[in-house]
Amino acid sequence: MPVADDLISRTFRGLSSHISAARGRDPATANVSSLEILLTWPGVQAILAYRLANRLRRSGVPLLPFAVSYLSRVITGIEIHPDAEIGPGIFIDHGSGVVIGETAEIGENVTLYQGVTLGGTGFQSGKRHPTVGDNVTIGSGAKLLGPITVGHGAKIGANTVVVEDVPPCSTVVGNPGHPVRVDGRKVEGPDADWIHLPDPLQDAVKSLSARIKELEKQVAELSGSEQPDVEEPDGEPKKGRSSAGG
Ligand SMILES: CC(C)(COP(=O)(O)OP(=O)(O)OC[C@H]1O[C@@H](n2cnc3c(N)ncnc32)[C@H](O)[C@@H]1OP(=O)(O)O)[C@@H](O)C(=O)NCCC(=O)NCCS
Repeated sequence: MPVADDLISRTFRGLSSHISAARGRDPATANVSSLEILLTWPGVQAILAYRLANRLRRSGVPLLPFAVSYLSRVITGIEIHPDAEIGPGIFIDHGSGVVIGETAEIGENVTLYQGVTLGGTGFQSGKRHPTVGDNVTIGSGAKLLGPITVGHGAKIGANTVVVEDVPPCSTVVGNPGHPVRVDGRKVEGPDADWIHLPDPLQDAVKSLSARIKELEKQVAELSGSEQPDVEEPDGEPKKGRSSAGG
């Protein structure tokens, strides 16, 4: 029965590639058997369930693909739409809270950590989820929203919110996500330091304050009166608990 043989050998090849992906990227697999990974690694189970749901969906089977996807979500906490396109070698570490939307496309050897969302930005239809290139790593809690493209080899930091395209081989962090490394080199330029942006309002107030002080000095000299002793603000933001809470 060549068809059955082919199916069995393809199934085994699929299983072993998912287990190898886990072994290659999760140090916790070091002293664990392949059977243990298969039975207890939610990321591996969710991808296997997705492969089944995706195949059923492509074959036009009703209901079952969504039932498989739903059951997988209940067991693993990972939700993958059966119509998403996912390449070989994907590994989802820990997994819980991962959401991969209907029109998401994922390349080869991609690593996702727990809490990653590949989602849409609203209620649009058509292509509305991200396209992720090969060898991309997406850190825990990162949200990638809209039909953006993440270039090959990019790294997205934990908790980053990405709403624009990500260049290949870059590291993107923060909210909104912005590149801090491209090809391993620090991003330089006037817009690179997002923490220490210039404050034109504060600069204007400082300049006005200096001019008023000068004018007061001249008035005091002309009128023969004493210059008023006014305490100058230091211009630094007040530290301490925010009135907005937190
Ligand atoms: C982004 C990441 C992949 C590191 O990538 P990298 O290319 O090696 O970059 P670096 O570590 O050199 O960091 C680059 C800069 O981004 C900053 N950075 C790194 N991760 C960040 C994050 N998640 N949020 C904000 N800033 C971050 C670093 O402090 C560094 O700042 P600097 O330019 O001022 O030095 C890594 O920090 C990360 O977030 N990995 C996700 C891991 C994860 O989710 N683990 C869960 C395990 S359960």
